[in-house]
Amino acid sequence: MEILAFGIFLVAVQSSVTRGFLLENIFNEAGETIIDVLESMGATTTQNMLRITGLNKELTRPGTYTLFAPTNLAFDTMPFYFWMFYMSNQTQRTEVMKYHIATKSINSAEFKNDQEIPTQLGIPIRINKYANGKVTASGSPVALTDKPASNGVVHILAKAMLPPHFTLTRALEICPAFSKVRAALKFTGLSSTLNGEGPWTLFAPSDKAIAALAPGLWEKWMSDKNVITGILLNHVVKGTYYTAAFDNGSTWKTMSGRTLTITVTNGKYMVDDIEMKFIDIPMRNGVLHAMDTVIPPPARSA
Ligand SMILES: *[C@@H]1O[C@H](CO)[C@@H](O)[C@H](O)[C@H]1NC(C)=O
Ligand SMILES: *[C@@H]1O[C@H](CO)[C@@H](O)[C@H](O)[C@H]1NC(C)=O
Repeated sequence: MEILAFGIFLVAVQSSVTRGFLLENIFNEAGETIIDVLESMGATTTQNMLRITGLNKELTRPGTYTLFAPTNLAFDTMPFYFWMFYMSNQTQRTEVMKYHIATKSINSAEFKNDQEIPTQLGIPIRINKYANGKVTASGSPVALTDKPASNGVVHILAKAMLPPHFTLTRALEICPAFSKVRAALKFTGLSSTLNGEGPWTLFAPSDKAIAALAPGLWEKWMSDKNVITGILLNHVVKGTYYTAAFDNGSTWKTMSGRTLTITVTNGKYMVDDIEMKFIDIPMRNGVLHAMDTVIPPPARSA
């Protein structure tokens, strides 16, 4: 779905924005502020959100800011519950918008993989640059870069960023759907690992995934710390891999040494034929993808 939205977005911006972007890029030393740039880019929802939260005033003053500006389509296609929770509540909305304002000017040429960029919210944006050429900011595809303003620079995002407040471990502690994995992480001591710096990509099996196993199998695994550790590490990859990194047929090595294969079909992401039900949930120390099936151990050690 994200790919589809991204595709539609690209078509939508090609005509209206790219032309203006190329033209103005050449001669924009003329004092357009970040807020003016949003206007000329057609990023009016971002502009409105900055106005409603009062953050626009600062972005018209002299300075060296970086604004990560989601397109209007990015807001329009935000899942309804995200919109209700984040954008219709002034406190949350202000946090989200502060998270889009970096406190120094950074051009895309300076982007590095897993670089953390400080924001006005105090929670850093994580930049990822993947082997397939895609660049994300806390998981949101960076669509257009380096739009210059008199007081900084604007990068355009295909998705709004949601500020990650939690580590992987903390998120699993809070979310009721992961009680089994949470207990297993605690039992094996991996919960302190996944609370640390990382970064990691966690393919987190829900309680539904564990309930779907053969009767007694999870309990059997849980009776041996080494076995359950291996099972859990089948679900962890070192590094921050949002779905932007996943091409059809790409393979990833887990912390247990197992190789996972990604398949992308009609915008759905599968890992070893298991569908990722919730994707790209940003964490302080990585990213979480959730699924309703456990990645089984390799056949010979089952
Ligand atoms: C808005 O969000 C804040 C912070 O999460 C929360 O305390 C408050 O109750 C929310 N307000 C409404 C009207 O939901
Ligand atoms: C993705 O890869 C699978 C397995 O290699 C292949 O069967 C499928 O046709 C590919 N799909 C696309 C859209 O390329």
